[in-house]
Amino acid sequence: MSPINEVIINKKTSINPIWIMRQAGRYLPEFREIRKQNPNFIKLCLNENLSSEITLQPLRRFELDAAIIFSDILMLPYGLNQKVEFKKDFGPLLGELNINEISKLDEIDFVEKIYPVYKAINLVKNNQLTNNKSTIGFVGAPWTLMVYMINKQSPKLKLKDDFFKDDFLINRVLIFLEKFLKVHIKNQIESGAEVIQIFDSWAGLLEEKDLPNYVYIPTLNLVEFIKRLGIPVICFPRGIKNYKNYCEIVKPDAICIDYEVDPRKIRKEIKIPIQGGLDPKILLTNKENLKKQTKKYLDIFKDHPYIFNLGHGVLPETNPNMVDYLVKLVKDY
Ligand code: CP3
Repeated sequence: MSPINEVIINKKTSINPIWIMRQAGRYLPEFREIRKQNPNFIKLCLNENLSSEITLQPLRRFELDAAIIFSDILMLPYGLNQKVEFKKDFGPLLGELNINEISKLDEIDFVEKIYPVYKAINLVKNNQLTNNKSTIGFVGAPWTLMVYMINKQSPKLKLKDDFFKDDFLINRVLIFLEKFLKVHIKNQIESGAEVIQIFDSWAGLLEEKDLPNYVYIPTLNLVEFIKRLGIPVICFPRGIKNYKNYCEIVKPDAICIDYEVDPRKIRKEIKIPIQGGLDPKILLTNKENLKKQTKKYLDIFKDHPYIFNLGHGVLPETNPNMVDYLVKLVKDY
């Protein structure tokens, strides 16, 4: 069994596997080279030869324990025929949300539209660079995807005041998301994904009272579905205030924490395997500081099943040498 699966399934504490959110991406010159020649991000994700190669790029450089498939959470709305673009220096920009069109869409059309994502997973899984490593598939959580589909761009710090005004629309979107997320997850697993991570990047925007409807219940449905397929699931409800409550209700196999979480406190509160935490900005400082902060996390989680990762994605301005140093620190601990 690969080290990450050992930690999640067998709760092993004697090893410290590591992977990094956004490990395949813009801080790597070899990625930027491919990106320059492929200005359309969606098309790049749908080119299985290139997207599998990009997925493997960080594994050629660093001794990471997982490959996370080069794709995006917004491939799901794209598969539902909502227009999705990535504008330079702006981020994602989505087109009109047409719920009646989505209600007519069947599974086969959806799968066909994003099929190369599954082919890429298969190529990565069968590449010898991933021997004894976990191939990680992922989805956006229903809440985070709904935020993008309705808001049509990143919400930054808060939601627009009228976000919840159309209750009927919101409930229908959640129903369709659940249906197609299950299809997307199942296809990723059948293509070789051995772990699924659910990214709920905007969980922190909600008030406590809205968490059950938009975060807990829809995510629990997916977690139970993934468990039934026999695959471990890691949840990342970024910015949520109460990780303990979340774990007790949603019951993921492992929980990924953001960099605002106090690692000592969470270690006492949560029994399940923990992943992540280190502030990605630490990688922009110096080796001495990186060593100190990395050691802090490793010391705190010494006797707890722990997967090393950052508390959010690696920043584009990160020097790959710092990533190399980080991976070595964790491996030599
Ligand atoms: O290496 C990996 O982690 C796998 C690939 C991956 C990408 N996006 C590639 C990507 C993963 C797991 C994601 C998840 C994702 N996408 C999330 C959840 C995690 C998080 O960051 O909170 C979200 C919210 C998105 C939506 C998204 N995609 C945004 C907001 C942006 C633009 C800003 C940004 O962070 O880059 C993207 C584009 C994107 N997705 C890029 C990459 C490598 C950059 C594309 C480019 O311009 O080259």
